[in-house]
Parts: sequence; structure tokens; C-alpha cells
Amino acid sequence: MDYQVLLQDAMEQARRMPARGRVADYIPALAEADPLAFGMAIATVDGGVFGAGDWQRPFSIQSVSKLFTLALALAEGGEGLWRGVGREPSGNPFNSLVQLESEQGIPRNPFINAGALVVTDRLLELTGDAVGAVRDFLRTESGNPEVAADDTVAASEARHGHRNAAMAHFMASYGNLRNPVDSVLAHYYAHCAIAASCRDLALAGLFLARHGVRVDGSRLLSRSEAKRINAVLLTCGTYDAAGEFAYRVGLPGKSGVGGGVLAVLPGRGAACVWSPGLDAAGNSVLGVAALDALTTATGWSVF
Ligand code: DON
Repeated sequence: MDYQVLLQDAMEQARRMPARGRVADYIPALAEADPLAFGMAIATVDGGVFGAGDWQRPFSIQSVSKLFTLALALAEGGEGLWRGVGREPSGNPFNSLVQLESEQGIPRNPFINAGALVVTDRLLELTGDAVGAVRDFLRTESGNPEVAADDTVAASEARHGHRNAAMAHFMASYGNLRNPVDSVLAHYYAHCAIAASCRDLALAGLFLARHGVRVDGSRLLSRSEAKRINAVLLTCGTYDAAGEFAYRVGLPGKSGVGGGVLAVLPGRGAACVWSPGLDAAGNSVLGVAALDALTTATGWSVF
């Protein structure tokens, strides 16, 4: 496989999309992203790293961080996590409040915002520093010590994060948060505001391709836990577009409103793509198109 050529071809096909989508602006600092930025990287389990376009340029990882908070919370605390958060697709937008009341403050899954707040709360309880845990994991797995939260982006979200605050208070009223709401929100905004590149994220996602094993050979998760995270990524990682993503890409994946998408090729590698223009569900238009082109050309899929 000539990964370099595959990446360039996939990006070339994605560039033919009639429109690039809209850059997120509900977090004002994200509106400053370069709408023409586009990069893609693949990291393989046998040590290869390949990239094209803006693959080494850091961007705001936003909800891609939720893959790592989930993995770390499960690694630290085990299955008890699932008492406070479900693992069913929500069929609703990532920031929807609508199911929380009828489902007694238990969010549908760990990747919608409400579910991610619960995971952040548990990770904070288990480690004392949820954002530090995610940042350090990303630094170690990527080998890039410069991965860090962007305080300006986190502060920008905090000033406009009324929906997340509403969800957090609502879940606290059901006893589904163990830390003060303000601490949970601060850690959540900060891990969403981590800046990393396609290269960094593809490398950091490799533990799922290695069935739970970290870059140094130590085990973060059992093989079965890694399988389960991949399953929840497939069914819930791209929100109410998870069916369409599975149909087009056929891989577990996690998107973020910064325009990043990280997809896992179990046993083989991880691919990350970044283009800030989003579709209505909050997924990168060119990102999904490039992954679609890559998996269609190679036949890479879990199916
Ligand atoms: O809480 C939020 O709205 C953002 N920090 C993250 C949302 C997000 O990335 C959804 N992804 N597509």
C-alpha cells in the first residue's frame, strides 16, 4: 500500500465536494479557524506515519477528546461508568437536552455532550485532573510534548456554554455528577480545547487499533474493552449522522466541531482528517468525504 498516494487521492476526491460546510461559530474562538485548512494522516500499527496537506497543523480537537476521556475513565474506573451513562445512539444533535428529563438524567451515550460531561466528572474523580489526564495521554502516545489546551478557546466556550451548563446542572439535580458543576465544566471545556494535529491524533488513536495497547507496549484497556469503545464509536461517535458515517466510511470514528475526525482501522491503524467546515450534524464535510474516499478505495472497513 502506498499510503502517501492513498491520502493524496482521498483528499483530491474530497476537494470535489460542491461545498465545504460551515465553520462552527457558536464557540466564538472556533470561528477564527481557517476554512480552507485541510489535512489528513494515517498511523499504522507497524510504526508508519503518513500525512498530506495540513496534517501537522494543530487544531481544536473538541469532541474528538471524548474518545480519550472515555478510554481513560474506563481504564481507571472500569465498568461502573456505565451506571451513569448509556451506550445507545441518541438520534438527536450532540447538544440536545430533550432526552435527559425523560431518562432521569442518564445521558444516552458518552459522546453526546451530556454523556461526555458525566465521563469527565468520573475521570476528574478518578484522577483529580481530567484535562491533565487527556493531555498527558495525547502527549505520550503522539510523542509531541507541545499538545496542550488552548485557554482562549476554553474561555470562549465557557462564556457561551449555556447549554452545557444547563445539562450539567440538570444531571447534578439527579445526582449524576460527583464533582461541583463548575469544576466539571472547566475540565470539559479545557479537554475540548486541546490543540493537536492530524498526525498527533492518528498516533494517539492507535491504542484502539492495537486492541487496547499503548505506544510503550503497556495495556490501557483489555481487548474486549477496546472492542466495546470501537463499537460505541461506530454507533454514536458522529451523533445523529452515525448511520450515514457507518454507511459511507464503515469504521468507528469520532468527530469534533473543530473539524477533526479520527477513525480507527482495528488491527491496522488510525486515520485522522481535518477540515473546519461542518455539516448540519457538526461533522466535517471534507473530513467525512475524504474518509469515504479512502475506505472505498482500500476496502478498509470493520464490515
Ligand atoms: O460542548 C461543545 O459543544 C463542544 N465543546 C464540543 C462539541 C463537539 O465537538 C461536537 N462534535 N461534533
